[in-house]
Amino acid sequence: MCFLFSKNHCLHCTSPTEALYICTLMANDNKLAAIIAHCKEYGFIFQSSELYDGLSAVYDYGQMGVELKKNIRETWWRSMVYGNENIVGLDSAIFMHPTIWKASGHVDNFSDPMIDNKDSNKRYRADHLIEGHLAYLGVATEEIAEHPMMVAFEKLLTENNFEGIKQLIVDNNICCPISKTCNWTDVRQFNLMFSTQVGSVAEESDTIYLRPETAQGIFVNFLNVQKTARLKIPFGIAQVGKAFRNEIVARGFIFRMREFEQMEMQFFVRPGTQKYWYEHWKQVRMQWHLDLGISANKYRFHDHLKLAHYADMACDIEYDFPMGFKEVEGIHSRTDFDLKQHQEYSKKKIQYFDNDLDENGKAYGNYTPYVIETSIGLDRTIMLVLSEAYCEEDLSTADKQDSRVVLKFPPKLAPIKLAILPLMKKDGLPEIAREIMKDCIDSFHCFYEEKDSIGKRYRRMDALGTPFCVTVDHDTKTDGMVTIRHRDSMLQERIKIEDVKSIVLKAL
Ligand code: GAP
Repeated sequence: MCFLFSKNHCLHCTSPTEALYICTLMANDNKLAAIIAHCKEYGFIFQSSELYDGLSAVYDYGQMGVELKKNIRETWWRSMVYGNENIVGLDSAIFMHPTIWKASGHVDNFSDPMIDNKDSNKRYRADHLIEGHLAYLGVATEEIAEHPMMVAFEKLLTENNFEGIKQLIVDNNICCPISKTCNWTDVRQFNLMFSTQVGSVAEESDTIYLRPETAQGIFVNFLNVQKTARLKIPFGIAQVGKAFRNEIVARGFIFRMREFEQMEMQFFVRPGTQKYWYEHWKQVRMQWHLDLGISANKYRFHDHLKLAHYADMACDIEYDFPMGFKEVEGIHSRTDFDLKQHQEYSKKKIQYFDNDLDENGKAYGNYTPYVIETSIGLDRTIMLVLSEAYCEEDLSTADKQDSRVVLKFPPKLAPIKLAILPLMKKDGLPEIAREIMKDCIDSFHCFYEEKDSIGKRYRRMDALGTPFCVTVDHDTKTDGMVTIRHRDSMLQERIKIEDVKSIVLKAL
């Protein structure tokens, strides 16, 4: 999403179904509701502060979710940082000098036009309200952006004509879906950044912001990293970390949150080469998604037709979520805008000296690098992986009704890789199982369980997405073999104890 300076940012990056009626649409969507319930029941994701009736659009990751999140983060980091000799990592602080957000444009422009209904006391984003209304009237998703009402809205927004936007809403009889009235307040701009105070004495304290993106931490460390790592252009700096946005209409489970994690990479290139690198990163990032084992027809590129003024190219990678195709990652060609802004506001030179020779044999010399950004939400990727993995299977036979819920995670992302299950709690079986556990525990995450029938234990492991279970039974004592069960096919085979570790490692 190209949010800066484009006040109606979501129009560039999200489809209209994400608008006003998304909540209803999603509540109606059985798959999403089932995923949310499953995540809670099996310790993946809990509503934050649930004990106190919850905090809206903030979520906690439970014992399974934290492993899934760590595995996705690691997969990204391995591919971006360890997989590219010219990309290094960074972990910049969440709090930064407030002027950084002035320079980046967030203080003045990172805002949404909001309107309140006086009867329901509900607040809406003006663009979402109009998009939702058009969807309600039956306008097809792909036609909404070009609809005259939407075009009129965009024009008014560009002119900062908030009175005009209100009039547009009133003239078209767009009502609040809760109160069903058109009793609206004026349209106002709400900045999405959270602020707080630093300094112990109130009068001397300064307002600082919780970062709304990790990218600026990279830009302001450009020279530190380039010099200390002795990097030559083109090179990249990658970072994973929390970001905070006071999303007024935050919903869709972990799709749109107020506190979330981003995995971003800024790639610094010679001016004039940005088109090549933009195409390069589009392909590389799409391949990363496909390498998760997800089929290509679940993804598409969405090119931004209207660009933020700092960008010369931008697109989203969209995934077919249970509520339709939506942005999961943005690829943006940000020109030299950010570095130049920081140079101007900090009054410190931010340039790169390029001693490579151009086609005339002259050194390129000093310049401000251009930037290609890849920016993906970690939580949104978790939602993607869960949507892809969640599967309800009917296993009924002629004489028995049966079903299972299974999370078909790629093995490398699964929270638990191997469950080790002694058939009984006695006769020396737990001891053998513990030995297998000891052998594997340093290589991948294992889980030991001796409670319940073996059938129930298998089903629980399916629900957690564990790709392999091994069962130790009485024959193991004499033949040194165990039964390995494959999660997706449910096939079982006898293998030697000493082969367990290598089979799991091979799948990873
Ligand atoms: N630095 C560029 C930037 O922040 P963005 O499109 O605003 O661009 C990048 O955000 C990614 O961060 C999105 O593609 C999405 O995956 C994720 N993201 C953005 N806002 C989010 C939110 N409120 N909740 C969860 N993820 C979010």
